Amino acid sequence: MSGDGWPDDVRLSDIEPRFVCRGCGKRGADVRLGPSLASPKTFTASCTCAIRTSQRKEPSMVGPTDYDSIARHYAAKIDDRPWNALYERPATLALLPDVNGKDVLDAGCGHGWYADWLARKGARIVAVDRSREMVTLARERLGERARVIHGDVSNLREFLASESFDIILSSLVLHYLEDLSKTFLEWARLLRPRGTLVFSTHHPLHEKRIADPGYLCAELIEEDWDWLDEKMRYYQRPLRDLTEPLSAANFLIERISEPTPSDTLKSRDPQVYKQLSRVPAFIFVRARKAE
Ligand SMILES: C[S@@+](CC[C@H](N)C(=O)[O-])C[C@H]1O[C@@H](n2cnc3c(N)ncnc32)[C@H](O)[C@@H]1O
Repeated sequence: MSGDGWPDDVRLSDIEPRFVCRGCGKRGADVRLGPSLASPKTFTASCTCAIRTSQRKEPSMVGPTDYDSIARHYAAKIDDRPWNALYERPATLALLPDVNGKDVLDAGCGHGWYADWLARKGARIVAVDRSREMVTLARERLGERARVIHGDVSNLREFLASESFDIILSSLVLHYLEDLSKTFLEWARLLRPRGTLVFSTHHPLHEKRIADPGYLCAELIEEDWDWLDEKMRYYQRPLRDLTEPLSAANFLIERISEPTPSDTLKSRDPQVYKQLSRVPAFIFVRARKAE
């Protein structure tokens, strides 16, 4: 590769008219091929929107939030928080098929709320999280009712055989992962043919970022979460960055849901209800592994 980050085997005259910026969709002379942010060994076409994006990154933005240091604090607050209990969880559970007697992987289980619910509904559970603290909390909560693994949801080969699950559930985890292609391929490996994947993640629409850096610019962002009193870092990405890796991993999307918040939420927390009635916080997807 040459010093300016261009691959040696690509000539300027070859690429100028052909490439479309992956960030903003623009085509033109200033759209260049450079090392991909997601994987330094591959190349991505981008224009100045990506340069602006990288310049915006703070030196502290080393990666997404590591839950180890906040696990107990998070776990103590999350079970009854209206945002989760009355919005995220009902919408996620509404997409799940009957779990009774099924093998279910809770991918990114946190302190085990979902694994607990699934066990009570008669599922056989394996739960996995990369935070040791979260794994400890989940084991305390679940006891013998689930196998809880300390591991990365994107690479579970050393723990789990191929085609060993009917359902994979992953709630609010994907926005902490940089390379979703890898994750969806791993989940396709783990699911049986026609197995179901249900996940929730941050909604692609992030009001403050639509114009700058632009809806199509995927990036790691940092936000103050007042309710947790923490700065949280996660990947904000457009819808296509969810749907395209899903299709590439042989998943067929069955449903995408953007729920209207419930009347129960309205009476518990009118402000949150108002906010979520206008702009969704999360997106909910059910996909099926193709045969
Ligand atoms: C917002 S919490 C959600 C926890 C749980 N799914 C829930 O809804 O209660 C995100 C969790 O994802 C876990 N996580 C993030 N990246 C992960 C990865 N690559 N592999 C496994 N777990 C991961 C974090 O450690 C954290 O426990």
